[in-house]
Amino acid sequence: MSTPYGRFDDPRREYVVTRPDTPLPWLNYLGQDDLFGLCTNTAGGYTFWRDAKLRRLTRYRYNNAPYDLGGRYVYVRDGETVWNPGWKPTKTPLDGYECRHGLGYTRIAGSKDGVEVELLFFVPPGENAEVWRTTVRNRGEQPKDLTLFSFVEFCFYEALNDMSNFQRTYSIGEVEVEGSAVYHTTEYRERRDHYALFACTREIAGFDTSRDAFVGVHNGLHEADVPLSGTATNSIAHGWNPIGSHQVDLHLDPGASETFAFVLAYVEQGEQPKFERPGVVDKTHGRALLERYRDPGAVDDAFAALQSWWADILSAFQVDCPDEDAQRMANTWNQYQCMVTFNLSRSASFYESGIGRGMGFRDSNQDILGFAHLVPQRARQRILDLAATQLADGTCYHQYQPLTRQGNADIGGDFYDDHLWLVLSTCAYVKETGDTSILREPVGYADTPGSGEDLLHHLETSIAYTLSHLGEHGLPLIGHADWNDCLNLNCFSTEPNESFQTAGDVQGSRAESVMIAGLFLYACCDLAGLYRHLGSRDDAARLDDAYDDMLAAVEEHAWDGDWYLRAFDAAGTPVGSSASEEGQIFIESQGWCVLGGAGRSNGRARRALDSVHERLATEHGIVLHQPAYTRYHPELGEITSYPPGVKENAGIFCHNNTWIHLGWCLLGDGDRAFEYYRSICPSTRSDVETYRAEPYVYAQMIAGRDAATPGEAKNSWLTGTAAWTFVTLAQGILGIKPEYAGLRIDPCIPKDWRSYSVTRRFRGVTYEIRVSNPAGVCSGVRSLTVDGTPVAGNVVPLSGGSDTVVVDVVLGGDLR
Ligand code: BGC
Ligand code: NOJ
Repeated sequence: MSTPYGRFDDPRREYVVTRPDTPLPWLNYLGQDDLFGLCTNTAGGYTFWRDAKLRRLTRYRYNNAPYDLGGRYVYVRDGETVWNPGWKPTKTPLDGYECRHGLGYTRIAGSKDGVEVELLFFVPPGENAEVWRTTVRNRGEQPKDLTLFSFVEFCFYEALNDMSNFQRTYSIGEVEVEGSAVYHTTEYRERRDHYALFACTREIAGFDTSRDAFVGVHNGLHEADVPLSGTATNSIAHGWNPIGSHQVDLHLDPGASETFAFVLAYVEQGEQPKFERPGVVDKTHGRALLERYRDPGAVDDAFAALQSWWADILSAFQVDCPDEDAQRMANTWNQYQCMVTFNLSRSASFYESGIGRGMGFRDSNQDILGFAHLVPQRARQRILDLAATQLADGTCYHQYQPLTRQGNADIGGDFYDDHLWLVLSTCAYVKETGDTSILREPVGYADTPGSGEDLLHHLETSIAYTLSHLGEHGLPLIGHADWNDCLNLNCFSTEPNESFQTAGDVQGSRAESVMIAGLFLYACCDLAGLYRHLGSRDDAARLDDAYDDMLAAVEEHAWDGDWYLRAFDAAGTPVGSSASEEGQIFIESQGWCVLGGAGRSNGRARRALDSVHERLATEHGIVLHQPAYTRYHPELGEITSYPPGVKENAGIFCHNNTWIHLGWCLLGDGDRAFEYYRSICPSTRSDVETYRAEPYVYAQMIAGRDAATPGEAKNSWLTGTAAWTFVTLAQGILGIKPEYAGLRIDPCIPKDWRSYSVTRRFRGVTYEIRVSNPAGVCSGVRSLTVDGTPVAGNVVPLSGGSDTVVVDVVLGGDLR
């Protein structure tokens, strides 16, 4: 979809932003290993190493106006005119502007008065450095004498302290300058053995390291003193706010160009001595790093390495199908977003501050579902890290810091869905890889130092926790909340300064969650399936029994007549019932009960999904519940604190829409599933002024029909929607399902799709899967041929040796 603000360039896997004043900052991420950066279409954003809170390299000023201010800036001074290729911060009108967000890189080109400056920002694979390849071209008729000034503002590493403890931070700033490199060495003399540096690979004419000198105490970045005066001051920061800036003087004849790079890097000293002489930082590692990028050819090679890294990763799943939007999302953007949510969980975006939440337990487990096929080894480690933040009783730290991998004590635990997601992520990983050794990895519990229980023990502890925390209807207790962090049934907060997520005493509480019941059903099936695969029949049977008991409780107590209830509150009153005053029907319990297998034999599954269609579905997606809450209900918590139609109060929470999509896939209605899929797909949107968020990634929320701004998206990028939509499309709709014994082929597509094909790398083998639909059905396989040989059933067995396997699938039968 092309809009006044941009378009997709599918062959290059880029989104091209064609004007800088987008309805909101349109963000991209740099980095793939440890060093990450947020980078907007005007070059805004910041950089950190592993942890946006504890190792922040550059600064973000919170709740900024405009939102997107502060970043990777290059000022161009041409005569008396000062401009930026990314438009900000000067906002000098440009003759040309284009931003291309690609996979792990952003390329911004601006031109004015015959001069074009192109900046390519990326992090070379395996490197703790952000490279800004800079190309300056004189496209005019006259020779040009230009001055460029680079600019970054350093952060004092611990970002929360950085933005609040000025009585200290304004006195600690230190830098050193060597050649064209500014070394940011604040706190290095004492406990840090790391520093940041910002260098230019070309000869410089001057530098600045003091913000007051470069910008001016009373100025904004758009009127910074040095670019306006034209001369760097060679300032050395002592306290206050250290920055890094270089002055680069260029003479370019008509048609001439020059390419060089700025490099922003993070260095750990490790075994290297900290100082080369008293008071002087040992720069051995920093110098060596800069040496690697001195040659423009090395920069190009590093960029080529990044591109081939991505090409290889994405080759694990590629589809060719009749729908352009689904195809580009599946092949590029959805998988890319899965990588970013895997890397950052819910820590750092334009809506997640980088100083608040770190890795969410339920979030990161769900992220694995869309990621396990991309880099399985990383998924493995993440599962083990997550499990290590579980407590011996089965509850989990709700979040942990990526740097320390320690549970976050401020939020604590007691969200009674958290532990169950670990079962789903582990099973998904083992199905993808066949690696059952992960189950025997010693992990141990966070509150029992030195304990070494293995991962399988953790999964059992998770199941046991739910079974020992059932309420009076035999349904799971909810704790502080389940997946819906805002349904706080034990909170009863009347104190405005309290967190809904931590207030309230959950011990001894009665409130039960139907959604957790559905999730438990699903987790039991998953784990029972794993036990069957392992040959542990007794364990599988034990879980089957637990499943049957929970299913009976759901069918007996949680059916409201036309849909499943959402919960029972602390007083035992149904939540999400036709008898409720507001919030009569909720999406999550319909999704999870159906996915867990409830309502399968009695028609309730279809009835529940029909009710969702009748009451919750809108053109922009499915709202979370109806009617929206119009007043605060202390017995329900934060959900009723939001204005009607936004966030959890009847917003379109894209994440949970996918469970309904998958529900329809289960029931075999591919038309409905795909219509819903498209309703929240960002690439389909033409109403960009209404939608506002990035067209290439999912947003957590689109305002619902009760909102003042229906159709407006918020909280883009870091959302479980990424992983779940990929699961929906790849497994639910296209029907390529990893299983222990092979790939199950179980499509559920729109009837009018006549054919499609998928390339899927699975356990080291590439499967070329061609699906044809001569009878125009949604689902049901008639025949399966593997390398020309007919195979009974619809599971492609694991390949016995060849690297490439060709699979032909014909729909029109009843194999599912
Ligand atoms: C948001 C939720 C989020 C929760 C915990 C709430 O304000 O609405 O989406 O999960 O905070 O951070
Ligand atoms: C966002 C949180 O990250 C996630 O954990 C939660 O499930 C949803 N919001 C719904 O509240």
